[in-house]
Amino acid sequence: MIRAFLALPLPAETREGLARLAVQAPLGRPVPVENMHLTLAFLGDIRPDAALDLAEALAEIDPPPRFDIRLDGLAFFGGQPPGVLAATVRPEPALGALRDAVLRAVRAAGLTVRRQRFRPHVTLLRLPRPLRAEDEAALARFMGKHAGGFASEFTTGEFCLYSSILRPEGARHEELAMFPLAAPLGA
Ligand code: 2AM
Repeated sequence: MIRAFLALPLPAETREGLARLAVQAPLGRPVPVENMHLTLAFLGDIRPDAALDLAEALAEIDPPPRFDIRLDGLAFFGGQPPGVLAATVRPEPALGALRDAVLRAVRAAGLTVRRQRFRPHVTLLRLPRPLRAEDEAALARFMGKHAGGFASEFTTGEFCLYSSILRPEGARHEELAMFPLAAPLGA
């Protein structure tokens, strides 16, 4: 089985900026710089032949044009107490349209996404559970200090199908297939 997900990769300089911020956090396990991504759909464990069917369905998508993504703040994600601290994504209709197109291909391949609600984000830190009240307060102070001035922008170029290989030292993400977006409108 392959633990699979679809995501937008981030440019190296965007990841490096996020990683520099993440290591300043008072606690939590920073996401390794090479793993930072914007998840479009998490598929869970799928069979290798289903991954192939999905790659074929995704290759048939009429790719939407490239668009800009702005990371505009920091927020806790993953319930209460939160599981992660993440960079938030400014609402962007093109991102919703890409996610819808990807979900159609997922369904065409006979697969389902594991989380229906889409709250685009880039995970920066995985938090310990249980999270002590004083740790949550320390993180809230960190966010108060950094969230206001935090902004990062990049242009999407492609989205990818990844496998996530779980290892004791942390997950390793492997790109299985890459799907370029189209030239921007008017280009
Ligand atoms: P996230 O960090 O954007 O939330 C690979 O495992 C990626 O899939 C993770 O980095 C995580 O993305 C997302 N993911 C993992 N488990 C998930 C789950 N149960 N539901 C939704 N997304 C999940």
